[in-house]
Amino acid sequence: MRAVQALRYGGPEVLAVTELADPVAGPGEVVVGTEVAPVLRLDTQLRQGWGRDWFPLTPPYVPGSGVAGRVVSVGPDVDPAWVGRTVVADQPGGYAERVAVPVGALIRVPDGLSVRDAAALLHDGRTAVHLAKVVGVRPGEWVLITGAGGALGLLLVQLAHAAGGRVIAAGRDGRKLDMARALNAKRTVDYSAPDWPAEVRAMTGGHGVDVVFDGVGGRLGATALDLTVPNGRFSAHGLAAGDTTPLDTEGASRRGITVFGMDHVTLSGTPVAAEATATAMADAVAGRIRPVIGQTFPLERAADAHTAIEERTALGKTLLLV
Ligand SMILES: NC(=O)c1ccc[n+]([C@@H]2O[C@H](COP(=O)([O-])OP(=O)(O)OC[C@H]3O[C@@H](n4cnc5c(N)ncnc54)[C@H](OP(=O)(O)O)[C@@H]3O)[C@@H](O)[C@H]2O)c1
Repeated sequence: MRAVQALRYGGPEVLAVTELADPVAGPGEVVVGTEVAPVLRLDTQLRQGWGRDWFPLTPPYVPGSGVAGRVVSVGPDVDPAWVGRTVVADQPGGYAERVAVPVGALIRVPDGLSVRDAAALLHDGRTAVHLAKVVGVRPGEWVLITGAGGALGLLLVQLAHAAGGRVIAAGRDGRKLDMARALNAKRTVDYSAPDWPAEVRAMTGGHGVDVVFDGVGGRLGATALDLTVPNGRFSAHGLAAGDTTPLDTEGASRRGITVFGMDHVTLSGTPVAAEATATAMADAVAGRIRPVIGQTFPLERAADAHTAIEERTALGKTLLLV
């Protein structure tokens, strides 16, 4: 089968298409014929060699965090009724034509949802649904979302609006901010402008924001924390700027702000993840949310997909079509 491998740590150019042996379903496994592989910002960071303490990947390895497609074969002890079903799975090594997956990791794609939308929701949908639930948005609250035009950001915009929040979508790319506005962000702000914090304060009549979903981190995230009202909530899930928010947790706690850290989005393999994924897919079928798939690439152009994410030209979700 064809697969992409990261031949070493480095830039997108380390990704190469190779021929590998087809996987065989062992006990408790199925093989999925990949139709779509979601591309995560995390995939680009791991390719650079970031996060080896948590994700022990040694090149050459097949990148990817998930797979969407049809079950093509099952292991000796697995119900053969799985064959032919359309599924998604949160499984490493998705940039390949076939992927072996433990049967317990399979999530059936519901009727009425395309395999592309299911792939787009696999990680970002569940994270957005879970964050929206634990952080909570109440009607009338001001909600600041940084990196709002990203894959997760555009889902959070929709969920925060649906909960009655007044969403301020923050980004630097006009195309992404236009999309956030089309998805009912009340206001948008360009955080590449030095006076953006003052703009946000003015938008809220000097109040500040009740809730922050920070998808960027770094200094920008720290500024967003300053904009949070006393007793507000702040989700520090963002790493797009290369680092999490250097949080003044003591200052935040003195102001009564509840900070939700990375542990709230580290969901892989947990029952919470399966439940949140199912909710996200059901919400999409019902038309309550829609994943924005901004760009797709064939498998052999995985390097271009990574470049689009790293250069911040990617709008919403990026997928590899296999
Ligand atoms: N997706 C998940 O399930 C999940 C789970 C846990 C954590 N996260 C984290 O949540 C964040 C958002 O995820 P996502 O999937 O929406 O990512 P994404 O699609 O890559 O979007 C992130 C956005 O951040 C903005 N950004 C600001 N500063 C940046 C910088 N220095 N470099 C790159 N982008 C920058 C970009 O928008 P502008 O160009 O408009 O600024 C970009 O569109 C990421 O840090 C990710 O690691 C995601």
